[in-house]
Amino acid sequence: MRTLAVVGGGVIGLSAAWRAAGAGFTVTLFDPAVGSGSSWVAGGMLAPLSEGWPGEDAALEFGAASLARWPQFAADLRESTGIEVFVADQTLTVALDAADAADLRTIADFVNAHELPALAAKDISGEGDSDQTADAASARLRLLDRAGVRAAEPSLGRGVRAALLAVAEPAVDNRALVTALRAACVAAGVEFRAERVESLTDLPHDRIVLATGAAAAQLWPSLPIRPVKGEILRLRRRPSAPQPPTRVIRARVHGRPIYIVPRGDGIVLGATQYEVGFDTAVTATGVRDLLTDAESVFPGLGEYEFAEATAGFRPGSPDNLPLVGYLDERVIVAAGHGRNGILDTPVTADAVLALLEGEPLPEARAADPRRFPSVAVSGAPESFTAAPLYPGGVR
Ligand code: GLY
Repeated sequence: MRTLAVVGGGVIGLSAAWRAAGAGFTVTLFDPAVGSGSSWVAGGMLAPLSEGWPGEDAALEFGAASLARWPQFAADLRESTGIEVFVADQTLTVALDAADAADLRTIADFVNAHELPALAAKDISGEGDSDQTADAASARLRLLDRAGVRAAEPSLGRGVRAALLAVAEPAVDNRALVTALRAACVAAGVEFRAERVESLTDLPHDRIVLATGAAAAQLWPSLPIRPVKGEILRLRRRPSAPQPPTRVIRARVHGRPIYIVPRGDGIVLGATQYEVGFDTAVTATGVRDLLTDAESVFPGLGEYEFAEATAGFRPGSPDNLPLVGYLDERVIVAAGHGRNGILDTPVTADAVLALLEGEPLPEARAADPRRFPSVAVSGAPESFTAAPLYPGGVR
């Protein structure tokens, strides 16, 4: 019997534990408070295409590889737990001025020219709600003019002059996801230990997955992973307030990116981004900026009830790609997902399982931790000592 310790009970650790237990590993997951960290704070946007930008090809491809896995991943979770995690089918990135509109064209040209996996898309034509596969590149990202925006999302503000519709970028309820993954782990036989691991060498298991997000360097100091704080709000719709948008809405207001992710009872509004170490205080400035910026996109927001403000830590890496790979003969790191931890969950779980089974996942090669010469990798199992993808180091 093969034993596996998973250190960290966010969505990355939980999904790795679930998949490994399903493959026959005896899995113990260590976390003093499972699912209470950034996975709980997050918004649940799955938007690798809308966040694409020329030159960031590896990030686009890694994110798209995970997005393509989401329908099956969610279906497996639903089958195991009965929990549905999707809350929106599409993403709309809106432009408030000419510069924003030009950026949207740049993103559309870059992404639509890229060869990417087929993505399940809803209602490409805008005239029905049948599921289709967006195999035509032009279907992935579509530019909408002012009238198109109003037809798609009538509750958006009149200052919105154009938008980019991503027909195959859904969103999930991150808290439902945590709950479902936890239940799936229990059903698969994962043992939970509410303990803080102080040193990986204390663990006797055959293999260890290090999935402690922004705190990963505390257990493996050479990892170039740092906390990037984000504040995020939850607003509940009151009966008199306008309905939330049906899609994820993304925008840049006064240079600050925001997103509105619909929920059954309201919206999630995120997120600030700055680096101040492990500080979980929600600042007055952060809340003010989020509300003011979002109101210029979705004016009905002011009628919502302010339900919650939280802060979490994105696990930042130097090149905005995660680190998934062996660090020595026992330890696999799965951390550094930055803004994309929820999006990257399915491909990371598959990549970890592939490493455990001895055959690295091709789609996850860009996440090889050996691209950073400063990461101390030693004695990885035989099949993982091939040259890293980027021998020159950070790309
Ligand atoms: N996933 C969006 C964010 O990090 O704010």
